[in-house]
Amino acid sequence: MADVETGAAIIDGKAFAEGLRARIGVAAANFAHQAGRRPGLAVVLVGEDPASQVYVGAKGKACEAAGMASFEHRLPADTSEAALLSLVERLNHDDAVDGILVQMPLPAGLDEQAIIAAINPDKDVDGFHVINAGRLSVGQEGFVPCTPLGCMMLLKDRLGDLSGLDAVVIGRSNIVGKPMAQLLVDANATVTIAHSRTRNLPEIVRRADIVIAAVGRPEMVRGDWIKPGATVIDVGINRLPPADGATKGRLVGDVAFAEARAVAGAITPVPGGVGPMTIAVLLRNTLVAAHHHAGMDAPEGL
Ligand code: GUN
Repeated sequence: MADVETGAAIIDGKAFAEGLRARIGVAAANFAHQAGRRPGLAVVLVGEDPASQVYVGAKGKACEAAGMASFEHRLPADTSEAALLSLVERLNHDDAVDGILVQMPLPAGLDEQAIIAAINPDKDVDGFHVINAGRLSVGQEGFVPCTPLGCMMLLKDRLGDLSGLDAVVIGRSNIVGKPMAQLLVDANATVTIAHSRTRNLPEIVRRADIVIAAVGRPEMVRGDWIKPGATVIDVGINRLPPADGATKGRLVGDVAFAEARAVAGAITPVPGGVGPMTIAVLLRNTLVAAHHHAGMDAPEGL
């Protein structure tokens, strides 16, 4: 239940991600010692999308900081599908590369599904390949998309056992909503997936002990939709239009934070909640890929 004075507890994803990155750094150093090479992540960026450039830069820096090798491939926006497929094929066979990430969205004219399908599923640290989606849906070991796995880590850290809890996932994307729902079901929660055609969304959210908002609509989820004491995970990162005189607008989530905080038991802020978890989990997945690639058991508890 929310504290009357201060509201919900803040789930500090930034601090959690820092801890995870430190543990990964130790495990990556152990790996390098045993395997004689660092875990390696190849990041491919096609075109000049400004947000993608920032993300790709951040991923490369995080790799190096964790003692992993980062291989960046920046290609022009007019790169042909054949050229991109041939790079992916080369990375599939490169023994220094344990993980491959092709930054999305790709420029118009490149078929994202065809590119993802070309990545070796055992190097697909994004968990986007249909083989990994299939593995998740039938409970086999595989790579799980970074953002929902990061949300799950925060939820388990906060709540422990999720058995029997009512969860609503707002959003049904392949990258967040669907894998998130699968992870929650696997953790024995009772899950509703809501989306743009859902009727009576506020009523559905009001029944939920866990709310995952992943729609990309600024402050859509209102405080009076939240069940008192619920745990709210806000995946949205939306930039509002600049206020008068400002160059940049404020970053907000999909949840009206101040309103929801007054009712919820715990809530992730934006920024500093789910966002930092995504890169930390990418490093985790790359470390696991490196162990499998080298025929070693992946370290426990990451
Ligand atoms: N674009 C936005 N988020 C992601 C992500 O997690 N992985 C990739 N490959 N592209 C993205």
